Amino acid sequence: MPARQRPTDPSAAVPPTPLRPDPTPGTAGKVRGGTPAGGAWSGRFAEPVSDIVKRYTASVGFDRRLAEADIEGSLAHARMLTRAGILGAADLDAIEAGLGTIRQEIAEGRFAWSLDHEDVHLNIEKRLTALVGDAGKRLHTARSRNDQVATDVRLWLRDAIDVLAGQLAGLRRALIDLAQTHAATIMPGFTHLQVAQPVTFGHHLLAYEAMLARDAERLADCRKRVNRLPLGAAALAGTSFPIDRAQVAQALGFDGVIGNSLDAVSDRDFAIEFEAAAALVMVHLSRFAEELIVWSSPRFGFVDLADRFCTGSSIMPQKKNPDVPELVRGKSGRVIGHLVALLVLMKAQPLAYNKDNQEDKEPLFDTVDTLRDTLAIMTDLVATGITVRADRMRTAAREGFATATDLADYLVRRGAPFRDAHEAVARAVRHAETKGVDLADLPIAELRQFSPLVGDDVHAVLTLEGSVASRDHAGGTAPVRVRAAAAAARAALPPGSE
Ligand code: ARG
Repeated sequence: MPARQRPTDPSAAVPPTPLRPDPTPGTAGKVRGGTPAGGAWSGRFAEPVSDIVKRYTASVGFDRRLAEADIEGSLAHARMLTRAGILGAADLDAIEAGLGTIRQEIAEGRFAWSLDHEDVHLNIEKRLTALVGDAGKRLHTARSRNDQVATDVRLWLRDAIDVLAGQLAGLRRALIDLAQTHAATIMPGFTHLQVAQPVTFGHHLLAYEAMLARDAERLADCRKRVNRLPLGAAALAGTSFPIDRAQVAQALGFDGVIGNSLDAVSDRDFAIEFEAAAALVMVHLSRFAEELIVWSSPRFGFVDLADRFCTGSSIMPQKKNPDVPELVRGKSGRVIGHLVALLVLMKAQPLAYNKDNQEDKEPLFDTVDTLRDTLAIMTDLVATGITVRADRMRTAAREGFATATDLADYLVRRGAPFRDAHEAVARAVRHAETKGVDLADLPIAELRQFSPLVGDDVHAVLTLEGSVASRDHAGGTAPVRVRAAAAAARAALPPGSE
């Protein structure tokens, strides 16, 4: 889990307070003078938006999740305005108190979210103004919702990445633990889903750990670009007020400011990068899930999944279905879809901000939710839910002529050109297959019919143990190497996760 205490918990959905229905349907939001209530742009408009447009354009139904980030951002902005002499100290006091009240109302599910105020930003600003009067109206000085929302999403995503990074480390640790236990457990390694050569189960698990380690690197790298401040860009061109962006960046824990104001409010590449990293996490977990599904099928029987990760069939009493891994595999689809959604969202937008960008949030939120749940459940599964059937793995490795390459290598060491050795062993395999036995079961005299180079010591290389032990080099499957790789992987976990 994450080492540091997070200021915002992106996993905590804002309590499900229902959106307040329009007070008087049909004339909703209408105030005297023909301007719509709640719109921050009211004076410009002669008539209120229709109800369907209001629903279509509103994001408060989902961007409420940004509330904590929005308040944090507003506090940092207001404090900077005061230090810069743009906002009075009394106004700042009022804003701080008002935002504190709002924070509490939201936490306790008492905040009255309203569609009339379109999004999280306007809902909070309207409430602040209701609470503290003019000071609330001054908060938006030198700011636009364009730089505000970009800031909120970055703050929210930064915290989400930190949570996910901690979870990834937890899953990696569970894989390393299991790999260490099974550093010498032999299973068939596959290519084309055909038995290829013996490997150890620990080696196989560490392959997934390696994928997730790269995923963690990608997330950490993406976080660097997430963690830059857009605020100060205002609507698109910056502001005429003497703001101090570096001060706001520091207060919010950003590593720096985004240099170009047009870029700051418009690009969502940071979210796309995150989506790409997240999609890869899901692809890796989907592959692992696929293997668990195959391994747990009675035909393979390599592993047993604990009952709490499976369900039964409503009609077939004998069934125990691996629902959890199947859903992990299935849910990779939605995360990959979210990546594509954000790429398409971005690709034709002219500079600078466009409302299209409001569509970035639901995919992003759903990606984080999906990853968070998937990592939690897979960690539990790997740590406590897999019973390894070493006997079944071993039998499968023996049945598949998995040591044929070892016999060819043996003949090469005795002087045969590799191609000739390959051919001799291929014929020996065919012979053994006809007899219904493994290569290791053939008497030496019989093996010698296929190559005169076969010596009395040949059985040493035909055993599964001999085969894996001989792959004794960096990255190899020899148990001694797997133990070393597990130790190295553990040492590479973030501090506190080992
Ligand atoms: N809800 C909007 C979004 O998510 C906030 C920014 C609105 N800006 C604007 N110019 N309409 O993008």
